[in-house]
Amino acid sequence: MSNKNKKKCLYVMQNIYLCTSNKNIIAYMCGIVGYIGKRKAYPILIKGLKRLEYRGYDSAGVALISDNRQLNVYKTKGKVAELESFVTQKDVSGTIGIAHTRWATHGEPCSVNAHPHYSSSEKLALIHNGIIENYAVLKEKLQSKGYQFKSSTDTEVLVQLIEYIKVTNDVSLLTAVQLALREVIGAYAIAVLDKEHPDMIIAARKSSPLVVGIGEGEFFLASDATPIVEYTDRVVYLEDEEIAVIDREKGLRIVDLNNVEMTPEVQKVELNLGQLEKGGYPHFMLKEIFEQPDCIRDCMRGRINVDANNAVLSAVIDHKEKLLSAKRFIIVACGTSWHAGLIGKHLIESYCRIPVEVEYASEFRYRDPVIDEHDVVIAISQSGETADTLAAVELAKSRGAFIYGICNAIGSSIPRATHTGSYIHVGPEIGVASTKAFTGQVTVLTILALTLAKEKGTIDEQTYLQIVRELAHIPQKMKEVLTLNKSISELSKIFTYAHNFIYLGRGYTYPVALEGALKLKEISYIHAEGYPAAEMKHGPIALIDAEMPVVVIATQNGLYEKVLSNIQEIKARKGKVIAILTQGDKIISRIADYCIELPETLECLDPLITTLPLQLLAYHIAVCKGMDVDQPRNLAKSVTVE
Ligand code: AGP
Repeated sequence: MSNKNKKKCLYVMQNIYLCTSNKNIIAYMCGIVGYIGKRKAYPILIKGLKRLEYRGYDSAGVALISDNRQLNVYKTKGKVAELESFVTQKDVSGTIGIAHTRWATHGEPCSVNAHPHYSSSEKLALIHNGIIENYAVLKEKLQSKGYQFKSSTDTEVLVQLIEYIKVTNDVSLLTAVQLALREVIGAYAIAVLDKEHPDMIIAARKSSPLVVGIGEGEFFLASDATPIVEYTDRVVYLEDEEIAVIDREKGLRIVDLNNVEMTPEVQKVELNLGQLEKGGYPHFMLKEIFEQPDCIRDCMRGRINVDANNAVLSAVIDHKEKLLSAKRFIIVACGTSWHAGLIGKHLIESYCRIPVEVEYASEFRYRDPVIDEHDVVIAISQSGETADTLAAVELAKSRGAFIYGICNAIGSSIPRATHTGSYIHVGPEIGVASTKAFTGQVTVLTILALTLAKEKGTIDEQTYLQIVRELAHIPQKMKEVLTLNKSISELSKIFTYAHNFIYLGRGYTYPVALEGALKLKEISYIHAEGYPAAEMKHGPIALIDAEMPVVVIATQNGLYEKVLSNIQEIKARKGKVIAILTQGDKIISRIADYCIELPETLECLDPLITTLPLQLLAYHIAVCKGMDVDQPRNLAKSVTVE
């Protein structure tokens, strides 16, 4: 195996290791579609998968019971277009089928792990969105009965378990599904086909969404209503532990795990297609801002233990000798990811006492940097495709540096070019202006610093526990901050016509000031600059007048008094101050023109809280200005060119 492939496998193994070592099995963000009726199923299924593409995917598959009663499963790595190419010469006949897209949150995308999964007899095919947490125990039980597995997924365990129960107990598919799901611990939205019952789809859900669409003599199944609305607006949203038995002739039955009949509640879909893809939000950006509490919880899953007294990044543990022996860390990134890198510098230097330099990748790659095998380079990138960051990684690697990636898009170019790394697991970020990826990057950098500091012995137990416990509470505090959305929307109306903004922060919140300014610039086209608050008196304060809104992050942390005097300097020159404060602030709240009060947190975790109101402020100002928030002019989501 070539060295490159070894590295790739190492990275992939790293992530599989990550799953198993943290008892965190392979989790997915997926899309499910199904059809049974009088039309050819395949075109409807493929179109449905494309409707779900906003959920992101890196592998896709389809199962069809053909006109001659064959159960055909076709699946490929890559986008739906690759699946379409793959099946061009295949039998895609049949009026019943299920299909699936997988956005891997762990492990390299590959066809083996793609859904649908066959049972051993190849009489059943199953697709799944969710996590079977006790899959390892179930797998061992089935292996002891002679079952073999092709993939490393929990989904294959489920379809084998259903078949094992069906055959061993000689029961119907429905009963087998009911008995199997009673053994399962975790979240699921599943659909199952049985080659011997070509007129029936069985579907079930627990914690992962599943919708049944009711047409004229035909039924649809999907993770949400997006793939269904063009055929019917009549839907049934399955509830937890409900099973839908969809029969071509008998229609829709809903039962629970104990086979108790439930009355389907047929609802009318009000949202249009575009709104559905955005989860009912007007823009992907707002959806992604509001996703942050859940995304950060996903980002921490398997890395912060349930007792919140341990934080670990497995990739750091696996390479701790290399990381601890480094003479310095160099963080390379662009844009928002570069801002996250500045916070990473502060965290790593504060707690690990390792020198950190933060470099714009575009500058680093062209200045012939002095770098060698004693350096560790951390590459931060949401897309994993930013040309400058990838080039910086290749340059550093060519000079012997050890490369650690912090990325979101699984299997993208930068993770594949690194020696190891950690995914941020915040799911696809569609809005061009990065929001949840930033807080995800900062979260991973925080856990990286904690893991390394603990290994190095440079952090005392009390401080360590205090940070880990507070980090575990951040998603809840983010939720609290998001309740300010309406008031921030009102505030934004005042500044819709501003021509310039200044954002100020200090210490951990200086990079947040930079990030807030970037958000405003890139979606409202208002000029904005971020500065260290103390830097104002070295020139920029000349800009201050009554027309200049100044956002100041002034939370109750180490530098509060200093920031207070910076605000007084601005007020003395009639600047309009929007202060980002800690709830209950009694001093700055009296002198600032506008206040946004946030829940208190530790100074090193301030970025995870103070960034959210700045994201909302930029969003609402841009909306007030009628801008194209999700696709601002001149910008691309991933800058894959120099
Ligand atoms: C941030 O809102 C911008 N979209 C942009 O600065 C972005 O952060 C930058 O292009 C880096 O992208 P990456 O994280 O995908 O590498």
